[in-house]
Amino acid sequence: MKIAVIGTGYVGLVTGTCLAETGNNVICVDIDKAKVEKMKNGEVPIYEPGLDVLFHRNIEQGRLSFTTDLALAVKESQLIFMALPTPPGGDGAADLSYILGAAKDISKLVTEYKVIINKSTVPVGTADKVQAVFNENTQVEIDVVSNPEFLREGVAVDDFMKPDRVVIGTRSEKAQKLMAELYAPYVRQGNPIFFMDERSSELTKYAANSFLATKITFMNEIANLCEIVGADVDAVRRGIGSDDRIGKRFLFPGIGYGGSCFPKDVQALAIAAESNSYNFQLLKAVMQVNEKQKTILVDKLLKYYNGDIKGKRFALWGLAFKPETDDIREAPALYIIDELLIRGAKVTAFDPEAMDNVKALLGDKIDYANNQYEALQGADALLIATEWSVFRNPDFEKMEGLLANKTIFDGRNLFDLQKMIDLGYYYNSVGRKL
Ligand code: UGA
Repeated sequence: MKIAVIGTGYVGLVTGTCLAETGNNVICVDIDKAKVEKMKNGEVPIYEPGLDVLFHRNIEQGRLSFTTDLALAVKESQLIFMALPTPPGGDGAADLSYILGAAKDISKLVTEYKVIINKSTVPVGTADKVQAVFNENTQVEIDVVSNPEFLREGVAVDDFMKPDRVVIGTRSEKAQKLMAELYAPYVRQGNPIFFMDERSSELTKYAANSFLATKITFMNEIANLCEIVGADVDAVRRGIGSDDRIGKRFLFPGIGYGGSCFPKDVQALAIAAESNSYNFQLLKAVMQVNEKQKTILVDKLLKYYNGDIKGKRFALWGLAFKPETDDIREAPALYIIDELLIRGAKVTAFDPEAMDNVKALLGDKIDYANNQYEALQGADALLIATEWSVFRNPDFEKMEGLLANKTIFDGRNLFDLQKMIDLGYYYNSVGRKL
């Protein structure tokens, strides 16, 4: 099939590349000339495991190309994916200006039937708004489809190639047929494609992310309670997770959910509910708890150092909001750094992928180490903010010589409690005994 993908951000690029992988011809469009030039020269602009192999293969085989020329991409394609940003606007609700703007531009270029597919996370009713833009500007038959993405950063390629499910919101039989054909190679193992109306599809995305954020937040509160009553959250997690109705995944407590999706989507859904005169109390509580959870490590530090951390130096392992990504959007590590700096402490950080992004944001406000051990040099304590695999099994002997105080505040529960006791560490983790 002939496909255009408008927007080569994280979602657009993964979508375009993975659609080319099953034999489609994909043209990716972006207004950023420099970025398009780089991609034309074979440079993958984001870090996403496995993406580079598919990216290069499909470029070489002529199925994946890049352009700034929207008219060309529209002319050449029958299916047009929109993967554009929907940042929170001034009122916190998703800002649709990129999507509606692109819809307007496309509507002026179409000369024959096209399916416009929205991949971005958008408020309920957006497909109708996009359709209205087309109705205003062209007589040509257009179907607008909602097709939310459920990709996780770090495993996005796998998630696209083997999705748990595909959700497609359209009431047009013609569009439904084309979408079923497009996705057939991805659901060969029998995973479902759910067809539904556009509004249900749009809400499915927000409901999925908000439910997962709620699940994590619930566990974060259970973890906080475990600390108070002397229980072990790992035991509780296993105890409840083995019940199929609850499930084992997304029950890991930590220092709050972050990233470009959960915080934004939970807020957008709460606001959407509000603007429809529905008070979504549960989501409000989730947001409040998560806000506090992001700085629990600092609260623990302050308690440990009797409220005074001025002049102390802390090693920080992990800056990305989660492992296997260089994404630092809404990363708990940044909130921790802020709180530490405000209190006059110093920070030496290390992250396997996100250092450049943090350097661009914070410059010399903190120090950067070349590896996880170098970060420990002269530190009063180690703080762990991201569960990168490389942090899971460090050389404790090597650490001992560097981290003289043997003090660790772990926001991701990386180490075995007994092991840390045996090694003589003060090891403060989340929801577990000291
Ligand atoms: C999330 C969803 O999982 C995807 O399905 C969705 O497509 C995507 O948002 C999106 O809307 O684009 P992502 O933000 O990449 O994906 O990352 P997740 O792996 O879901 O993690 C989100 C946050 O939850 C991270 O901060 C992570 O550390 C935290 N988390 C996750 C926990 O604290 N505990 C857990 O058990 C799992």
